[in-house]
Amino acid sequence: MATELKVNGKSTRVDVDPATPLLWVLREHLQLTGTKFGCGIAQCGACTVHVDGEATRSCTTPVAAVAGKSVTTIEGLSPTGEHKLQKAWIAEQVPQCGYCQSGQIMQAATLLARNANPSREQIVRHMDGNICRCGTYQRIVKAIERAAKEA
Ligand code: FES
Ligand code: FES
Repeated sequence: MATELKVNGKSTRVDVDPATPLLWVLREHLQLTGTKFGCGIAQCGACTVHVDGEATRSCTTPVAAVAGKSVTTIEGLSPTGEHKLQKAWIAEQVPQCGYCQSGQIMQAATLLARNANPSREQIVRHMDGNICRCGTYQRIVKAIERAAKEA
């Protein structure tokens, strides 16, 4: 059964089982591989995308749940890779292995969209569910603070 959704601004139709996780649709059907599979049970944040502007774990979101909605992946956050968070991530040299980082940036983007000048505590709380096995947490916080200053 086909599901229609908008991904990174483009209307898209995918013919898959409605229970298929959005993550697999993005990666396998639309070749948007910036979104990563970590745990598959909504516990790590590696698969975070935006659905109608809300940070969403795509590994546990059936594609049918996003029918008619607007999905943004790391590839769509900025057409040029120059979102202020992406620039701050580079300036602070945040990634280590990089695996968790697209999810981290997508999670952070929803904070700055709502709160242009978050406190350190608000940043830590907002990012709490995004795990980094390389332990880049301090640089993530610094990068979000840097991006907020550039707002
Ligand atoms: S892969 Fe989705 S939260 Fe871990
Ligand atoms: S940079 Fe390696 S898991 Fe976060």
